[in-house]
Amino acid sequence: MTNKKHKVAIIGCGRMGQHYAQAYRAYPDTEIVGIVEHNPERLKAVGERFEIQNLYANTEELLNDIVPDIAAIITPSKFYKDAVIACAEAGVKGISTDKPIAAKLSDADLMVETCTSKGIVLAGGNLQRAMHEIQEAAQRIRDGKYGEIIGASVNGFGGEISGGGCQAISVLRLLTNSEIEEVMCWGTHVDVIKGNADRQQAIEISKAAINQEEDTGIVINGRFTMQNGVNTNVFGTATPYGGVDVWSDSSLIRWNWGPPQIFQGFDNNGNRIEIETNYKPYEFSEFSYLTGSIRSFIRAIETGSEPWITGHDLRQALEAAIASKLSAQLGSVPIKLPLENRSHSLLPRPYRWIGGDETGRYQSVDEARKEIPDTN
Ligand SMILES: NC(=O)c1ccc[n+]([C@@H]2O[C@H](COP(=O)([O-])OP(=O)(O)OC[C@H]3O[C@@H](n4cnc5c(N)ncnc54)[C@H](O)[C@@H]3O)[C@@H](O)[C@H]2O)c1
Repeated sequence: MTNKKHKVAIIGCGRMGQHYAQAYRAYPDTEIVGIVEHNPERLKAVGERFEIQNLYANTEELLNDIVPDIAAIITPSKFYKDAVIACAEAGVKGISTDKPIAAKLSDADLMVETCTSKGIVLAGGNLQRAMHEIQEAAQRIRDGKYGEIIGASVNGFGGEISGGGCQAISVLRLLTNSEIEEVMCWGTHVDVIKGNADRQQAIEISKAAINQEEDTGIVINGRFTMQNGVNTNVFGTATPYGGVDVWSDSSLIRWNWGPPQIFQGFDNNGNRIEIETNYKPYEFSEFSYLTGSIRSFIRAIETGSEPWITGHDLRQALEAAIASKLSAQLGSVPIKLPLENRSHSLLPRPYRWIGGDETGRYQSVDEARKEIPDTN
């Protein structure tokens, strides 16, 4: 072991876990001291690739041997809760998961509350909210640089409203600087939007979609009211923009899966004028927004600041997806957040929930040995 400051364990070393390992290996102040991986061949291959001696088949074995400062948990989502709680009980200082954090609200609550009560930083994962340009745009909005935000839209809340939708919800909450207070939604299914059904079939498919236990294929339209009064229009499909728009009287800030664009005023043809953003350079530019996620997480452990994507953010995203589906199921009934009944759940697609090995996307040993370009 070296004198690097933060000892890191990677728990779950599949495709995403290997991305995390590349990042943690690259930073000057972190050292990977152990990895946990269920698949023995992949465990060995990833251990060799990253030159790590301490290899474990499960989290318990790791914690019996070493208590790292940081546990980066990137197993399939089904296993996050047990790993988070085990690490928290063992005294790990900072824990991260990826998305979605859970299927059941009470499981997300348990992770967030256990870490909060023990003073452990619970961070989010590889989410666009942690992109430094998005964080800077949000800071400028909070500083009043673009005027008071009076409206917002989520463009394309469909396909995977929890597993992928958490990207948009966590950016929406950041750019509006507010929590969601109420949702009022209706839902359908991607097959209906593609026009592959007549009217009666479309009704039946949509009904079935909105009653399913999994988020795959569900498309949500509706309105979110934020706690600060901002109304958010939710479009199930692209508008044609994806992502999130927020606007004031003077400006439109548009996040469409990249650094936010800023528009002010209109030209003679009525087109919006895009202004220079001049986002500050960021010290760590490799690994795209996974970098912002990890570096802000480390800063939070060191200084008590807030990571750019937190377990709370992931929980709020799960809750928004669940509440949207519930509202649609009940017939566009307005639903207040937080939901009182914490036993509600929404499963992500099977790949996210139980992983590639179980769902026909096995990662071979050769693939696991390969370096991935540092761009995500
Ligand atoms: N943020 C993003 O952009 C993004 C992208 C892809 C995946 N993800 C999320 O990352 C997670 C993992 O996805 P992936 O693509 O790496 O899947 P994967 O199937 O490639 O890897 C998961 C790995 O975890 C291992 N594993 C399973 N249970 C385990 C346990 N209890 N302890 C230790 N190891 C265990 C598996 O053997 C496998 O190697 C999922 O939650 C997924 O939703 C996030």
